[in-house]
Amino acid sequence: MSVERALYGGQTASSDGPVRRVTVNDLAAAKERGERWPMITCYDALTAGLFDESGIPVLLVGDSAANVVYGYDSTLPVTVDELIPLARAVVRGSSRAMVVADQASTAQALETSARFMKEAGAHAVKLEGGARVLPQVEALTAAGIPVMAHLGLTPQSVHTMGGYRVQGRGEAGQVLLQDAKALQAAGAFAVVLELVPADLADMVTRSLAIPTVGIGAGATTDGQVLVWQDMAGLTPGKPPKFVKQYANLRSVLGDAVSTWASEVVAGTYPDAEHEYH
Ligand code: KIV
Repeated sequence: MSVERALYGGQTASSDGPVRRVTVNDLAAAKERGERWPMITCYDALTAGLFDESGIPVLLVGDSAANVVYGYDSTLPVTVDELIPLARAVVRGSSRAMVVADQASTAQALETSARFMKEAGAHAVKLEGGARVLPQVEALTAAGIPVMAHLGLTPQSVHTMGGYRVQGRGEAGQVLLQDAKALQAAGAFAVVLELVPADLADMVTRSLAIPTVGIGAGATTDGQVLVWQDMAGLTPGKPPKFVKQYANLRSVLGDAVSTWASEVVAGTYPDAEHEYH
């Protein structure tokens, strides 16, 4: 409750009165107060409304949509044109959360980020990479577009990294720390740390004035993010070690749809209660 109160300027998810979006200043203030906060991925209006009502302050229209929405086997093939409608739906479906849209850290970053802000109404963009993306982070910040950086395992570079594996062990940890500081200096308002050792994430978190958001990065980052289908148990197969499943939606939804299907086949749905006269 304290995070919600802090981030929503005194509002709770159920309180009456004017509603406002969480801002980068709210997240900076939460860091100063030592308050932790959740960010969750989101790709449609219905879950956006639900997560917003649940008090989640930041919704990420991640390029994980490539996997969970579009069925690609990596995040690489998904296009801006495929992500913009999802971001637009998430903005429409929510009224308090900051909506962050993932985008490729290419030379066109300014142009595509502007599309996310203008066409989808996103409030910030997320950009993967360290030193090599500093020019893009500087250009976006100068253009007034808030940037969430992303270090550690960066799925768009999975082929360079040799697979989905822990990053920043040993000497690579110093490089990651320097990258994080450089991204902060370039204007990033937060940095995601994905699949990095917990002690490194802790050191980065304590070294930065901006918030860190961990995924597979231990308990001491300022925020935590998960793909919602992973934490709710909708994704098939064994989840990675860092994922805790808080529900088993795959079984709940699977049971519901097969019960409905059997009733349709048996002719017991719709019954009198579910028809019009
Ligand atoms: O695309 C995504 O969902 C992400 C998070 C897992 C951080 O980048």
